[in-house]
Amino acid sequence: MNSWAPVNEPPESAEELGEVVEELRRHLLWQEETGGPVLLADATKLAAERSASLRSMLPPRGAVAKVPPTEPVQAPSSPPRAETPPPAAPPPAAVSASPPAIRAPVTATSNGMLLDVPQQAPRYPGPLPGVVEGERPTLDQIRRELGDCRRCKLCTGRKNIVFGVGNPRADLVFVGEGPGENEDIQGVPFVGAAGELLTKMIQAMGFSRDEIYICNVVKCRPPGNRNPEADEIAACEPFLRSQLLAIQPKVIVALGKFAAQTLLRDTTPITRLRGQWREYQGVKLMPTFHPAYLLRSPAEKRKAWEDLQQVMKIFGKQAGART
Ligand code: URA
Repeated sequence: MNSWAPVNEPPESAEELGEVVEELRRHLLWQEETGGPVLLADATKLAAERSASLRSMLPPRGAVAKVPPTEPVQAPSSPPRAETPPPAAPPPAAVSASPPAIRAPVTATSNGMLLDVPQQAPRYPGPLPGVVEGERPTLDQIRRELGDCRRCKLCTGRKNIVFGVGNPRADLVFVGEGPGENEDIQGVPFVGAAGELLTKMIQAMGFSRDEIYICNVVKCRPPGNRNPEADEIAACEPFLRSQLLAIQPKVIVALGKFAAQTLLRDTTPITRLRGQWREYQGVKLMPTFHPAYLLRSPAEKRKAWEDLQQVMKIFGKQAGART
């Protein structure tokens, strides 16, 4: 049988049915190898489903019956994600008194990959990596899913993937932009000059780095510390969202424009976003200036400190010495 040709005739015997299923399985495997949307596990499932439906068309063993005509078996369509525009940004949400837990989207399969066009538009343009529907993932699962990531061009220049660091059950998460040179070398976020300032800010708030969690929008260093580009953010953002689903913090501090705008799906400048409570998936989110910006513009530290003091209030922390 030619692997390119659709199957137009219904199977007339169990042998032919087996061939159809095998053909479909090989076609799906080929799709997977060439970067198609259907993974082996899904291909096998799809083949099994197709097999069951085809089997129902066969007469019982030994019986002689006319097989009813049927629709041709179609090869799976091209990736729905690439063709489906991302959903419109949700309207700015008010902060609720008791935030619900971060929710997983409805379309994840057991391996976290997209199987078919979602019936309901998810809040994100796709399922979350490492996330099984209805289950809270672990950071380890998400890290495994990230693997030796080649999903965007940042992989070519990086030394290390900088996944995140800190308490996997932190109540407070800081989200930065992307690793710089030192972070790339060490594989740990915020360990350079901006990291030193962030550490001081965290301590001034009455926390230690071990108590909280720190990660970035993109996990690989943009060359020369340039801004992350839209395609790079799009490739990496689902991992950030999975991380937040795993941690389920009480408060997220978005450091700078990229973190705030990405999580909020809001293009308002950080100068206007900062200092205003927002909500990310039911979790309080405070946008503030990025520490690297504060190093360049120390006069703005006062505003950032005001923002962080609002966060401290949530945790019942008293203002300590400002750095
Ligand atoms: N800047 C960031 O946004 N993240 C880091 O990890 C370091 C610097």
